[in-house]
Amino acid sequence: MREKVEKRYDKFSYFYDFLDTFPVLGSAEKRWRKHAIDMLDIKEGQRVVDIASGSGLILPWIAENGPEEIIGIDISKKMLKIAEKRGKKHGISALTLIRGDVEKLPFKSGSIDRVISTFSLTTIPDYQRAIDEMLRVLKDDGIAVILDTGKPEKLWAKIGHALLVPVAKLFGRTHFDRDIVGYVRKRAKVIYISKFYGGMVYSIAFRKR
Ligand SMILES: C[S@@+](CC[C@H](N)C(=O)[O-])C[C@H]1O[C@@H](n2cnc3c(N)ncnc32)[C@H](O)[C@@H]1O
Repeated sequence: MREKVEKRYDKFSYFYDFLDTFPVLGSAEKRWRKHAIDMLDIKEGQRVVDIASGSGLILPWIAENGPEEIIGIDISKKMLKIAEKRGKKHGISALTLIRGDVEKLPFKSGSIDRVISTFSLTTIPDYQRAIDEMLRVLKDDGIAVILDTGKPEKLWAKIGHALLVPVAKLFGRTHFDRDIVGYVRKRAKVIYISKFYGGMVYSIAFRKR
């Protein structure tokens, strides 16, 4: 399963960043990503982990907040290669990139100040395990943020979502119908939720219970 994800994203890596330049969607994604980083409330000197960091689109914005260490972890070698180039281009000296499985994070329990996941948990094979791992590695006063697609509340958004779910599954093996917010509510203490596009996209900040 994980090998399949890796191969898929190795292929996607050739055009992944191009999607970010799309009119409307590209600029909306940038806004959502920046908002998620604001919710993470990074302080100078902290250790920040970007799980399933992909091509590292959010790494420069994380770096702007002056953390001591930024760790990006992803299963796809080719996505990480792009992240590495981005890190060099932006002169991010505090960056460490790890090829690994976010369902088994290579960090001690309670050792990380901030953990973020953007548009990843709908693609990770066992997303619940990945959320449990985010919580395990987080310090007691740490903050985690997830930005992803969710179950919308407004009728027009519900219709759009219902149409997108099979398309995303078919073309990207991406599961827009996962109840990520519901799982986070069960396992963690929710600090704040922001909703965009009628709740089709959301950003949720949470802590350990
Ligand atoms: C849709 S991309 C999101 C990338 C990035 N977070 C962003 O905001 O652009 C999903 C990423 O999750 C990674 N991924 C999926 N399952 C993974 C796993 N079990 N461990 C590590 N990375 C994984 C893929 O390789 C891919 O880079």
